Amino acid sequence: MEDPSFEHLTSKRLVIRRFASGDAEALAAYRTDGEVARYQDWECPYPISEARKFIASLYQLAPGTPGPWFQFAVSLSSSGTLLGDVALRTSRVEVGQAELGFTFASAHQGQGYATEAVRAVLQYAFGQLAIHRVFSRTDARPGERVPGDTWFKGAWATDILYAQLESEWRPEPSG
Ligand SMILES: CC(C)(COP(=O)(O)OP(=O)(O)OC[C@H]1O[C@@H](n2cnc3c(N)ncnc32)[C@H](O)[C@@H]1OP(=O)(O)O)[C@@H](O)C(=O)NCCC(=O)NCCS
Repeated sequence: MEDPSFEHLTSKRLVIRRFASGDAEALAAYRTDGEVARYQDWECPYPISEARKFIASLYQLAPGTPGPWFQFAVSLSSSGTLLGDVALRTSRVEVGQAELGFTFASAHQGQGYATEAVRAVLQYAFGQLAIHRVFSRTDARPGERVPGDTWFKGAWATDILYAQLESEWRPEPSG
């Protein structure tokens, strides 16, 4: 279900909102970090002009719109600092299915922000958007010993899929 009136979600430390033009510099900066970009599909360096175009393209979209990725900006509620983003792509063909991705600036990793933001977006996806199953892919190369099956940025990689059902996320109360 689409949510055209989406503005923001909040969690303990975070505001999860639409991207705004003022985020372009910070978005370009973390997307230009080679370690952050390594397993992601954009090319590095990522110029600010690309960041501006990308943000402008998001204005037309709403969470839950089937087809394109919707990118949620994740910022710190205390200071407004942009920490990273969480992205959700609702399937155009499979009812109630969505894919999730996430990216956080190196300086803000390891503090539980990704976990907190993903939890809020999952809650929203299973509730407001009435998504049934959310899945994510991860690149298995850092630990794998076999040749990969997916061509990615000039090498064979292996995608591992993780999924969560709405019923697992929020089970019916027992009794
Ligand atoms: C993956 C990423 C979003 C994690 O962000 P983060 O803010 O550090 O995450 P959190 O602090 O919430 O940690 C979440 C858990 O993931 C683990 N983790 C974080 N980065 C990891 C990595 N690169 N490999 C394996 N585990 C990792 C943490 O140890 C933590 O585990 P714990 O809960 O058992 O302690 C961040 O490293 C990132 O943006 N990486 C680059 C972009 C990317 O590759 N994204 C994933 C593909 S969509």
